[in-house]
Amino acid sequence: MSRRLLVTGGAGFIGANFVHHWCQVYPSDRVVVLDALTYAANRRNLALVEGRENFRFVQGNICDRSVVEQLLTTENIDIIAHFAAESHVDRSILEPAAFVQTNVVGTFTLLEAFRQHWEAKSKPSSYRFLHISTDEVYGSLNPDDPAFCETTPYAPNSPYSASKAGSDHLIRAYYHTYKLPTIVTNCSNNYGPYQFPEKLIPLICINILMGKPLPIYGDGKNIRDWLYVGDHCHALDVVINHGKPGETYNIGGNNEVENLNLVQTLCQMMDELAPDLPVFPSKQLITFVKDRPGHDRRYAINANKIKNQLGWMPSVTIAEGLRLTVEWYLAHRDWWEPLLSAEYQAFYRKNYLESANDR
Ligand code: NAD
Ligand code: DAU
Repeated sequence: MSRRLLVTGGAGFIGANFVHHWCQVYPSDRVVVLDALTYAANRRNLALVEGRENFRFVQGNICDRSVVEQLLTTENIDIIAHFAAESHVDRSILEPAAFVQTNVVGTFTLLEAFRQHWEAKSKPSSYRFLHISTDEVYGSLNPDDPAFCETTPYAPNSPYSASKAGSDHLIRAYYHTYKLPTIVTNCSNNYGPYQFPEKLIPLICINILMGKPLPIYGDGKNIRDWLYVGDHCHALDVVINHGKPGETYNIGGNNEVENLNLVQTLCQMMDELAPDLPVFPSKQLITFVKDRPGHDRRYAINANKIKNQLGWMPSVTIAEGLRLTVEWYLAHRDWWEPLLSAEYQAFYRKNYLESANDR
């Protein structure tokens, strides 16, 4: 039987990759994207599916209850995949208000509208509300600490992660109080095609191609657990189809890498794959800059639960995933060049030049 999905934030990085995945694997399902088209969104991310009969794009805000209610009813939605969020830690340090609004109030608005819709349909057990969250809600690990598991206590350290933690708690409460069939996934750092240039991997790829400095926060020894976005989308598919309401699943790539090592690897790959780099070898561009305030030292995900209970494991190694990503940014200059807009330049100056003086 075909299903009807509402994908919030589907014009952003992971949401768009997920829409591509779902439309390919389940072509008879209807997919409706609701996206406010903030700076991080790009309609072109959805170009591959725009013409499909079973696809619809709606520009709208998840905080707008009437828009959400109308979509749930008219499209007869039975699954929400909730990606919409303000997602960049540095922006949350500079301007936190939008994070509380979208991540907390927006999630609450969706939950209330979905609860009303589900109750009006006599609470079908097949309905799902999948909330895509982050490993950052668990805080920061010391070098010898075990990786985050689903029972690790929450300890968010940035306005971004605190707002995501708030939304996770609301999702949990709606299952426990109303038995609304919600599921939370907490995943590690994603990378791959369509990621906005502000995040580390695309920023480094693009700055190498433009011959600009490669900013490394602090000593470059912070560790992230990198997850290829295609593997993440496959995990979300498995969770929607086989995950248990009320549960949380951690999703990780099993790829812990220090930032400086990651950037050095990207420099080597670019030196090998990109013709006529403005600065060669590109590692000369590496520049240590002032640290991000409250910078979490290490994230690592223990993904045993989703592996043992649902049979999912990442399939892309970090070397394969980085190569695919470098090749994608090399082949899609027409995608990223327009994103280096006046707004982006203003953010860049504020984050890397002006704020650095205050840190
Ligand atoms: P992104 O910033 O690339 O995209 C976010 C999308 O949400 C954009 O299209 C934006 O327009 C939309 N949006 C923002 N506010 C909205 C609002 N009020 N109403 C409707 N749409 C709105 O983010 P991403 O990297 O694709 O992340 C997607 C989700 O995954 C987020 O919830 C994020 O917290 C989570 N997550 C991301 C990562 C990562 O590494 N990127 C890791 C863990 C979890
Ligand atoms: O862990 C999951 C999280 O990963 C998601 O919830 C967030 O939405 C996503 O943005 C990401 O957060 P990070 O802060 O880890 O990602 P970012 O790409 O901003 O930074 C990765 C690491 O690189 C981090 O240690 C900070 C560092 N960094 C980042 C930038 C942008 C630099 O050293 N220099 C930079 O210019």
